[in-house]
Amino acid sequence: MRVAAFISGRGSNMLALAGACAAPDFPADLALVLSNVAEAPGLSLAAECGIAVQAVPHRPYAGDREAHERAIDAVLTAARIDLVCLAGYMRLLTPWFVERWRNRIINIHPSLLPAFKGLDTHGRVLTTGARWHGCTVHFVRAAMDEGPIIAQAIVPVAAEDDAASLEARVLTQEHRLYPHALGLVASGAARVEGERVILRGHALPASAINPPQETRQ
Ligand code: GRF
Repeated sequence: MRVAAFISGRGSNMLALAGACAAPDFPADLALVLSNVAEAPGLSLAAECGIAVQAVPHRPYAGDREAHERAIDAVLTAARIDLVCLAGYMRLLTPWFVERWRNRIINIHPSLLPAFKGLDTHGRVLTTGARWHGCTVHFVRAAMDEGPIIAQAIVPVAAEDDAASLEARVLTQEHRLYPHALGLVASGAARVEGERVILRGHALPASAINPPQETRQ
């Protein structure tokens, strides 16, 4: 399966995907890294890894989001991409693009969805006093941070945490969870049925609740 990662910034999740895809037995290749920000640090990092990169800046489209995404779609088609992994891509995709790539776009979000959609999840978790936090990989739907959940990883919230320490603990799990979830999708083990993800005929095997291994740093 040929995968494109969409990024807007540092690209640490993209690098985690690239690392997994480099293993000979992994069922996906990271064939393209695309960004709406030409200066995104992650684009240079991907290029240094020998991965094809493409900037498709949104500004020239002056607010015509669909036109921007038609340009992106043409890039994906030319690169024969099968699956898109959003990895810190800071734009909401249009319904047109999401439908065109239905069940072929996945996203990582730094919360236990459906709680804490949107930005500043770590700060908001601390404000509410939630005891558990984590990250989610899900198939993308037109509404922000919605769609069938593929896998989640959980971290505890410590009394002494601030947003930065919590973010770091979650990010460590993101880097394990995203390759795990991509492997499930690319191998065909995870598929959408009735807006839920079915994993090899079982709704929720333990490996989808948390990837194996200790979750605490
Ligand atoms: C991650 O926390 C991801 O969950 C969120 O945006 C952040 C991107 O970080 N969607 P990076 O660019 O992968 O380092």
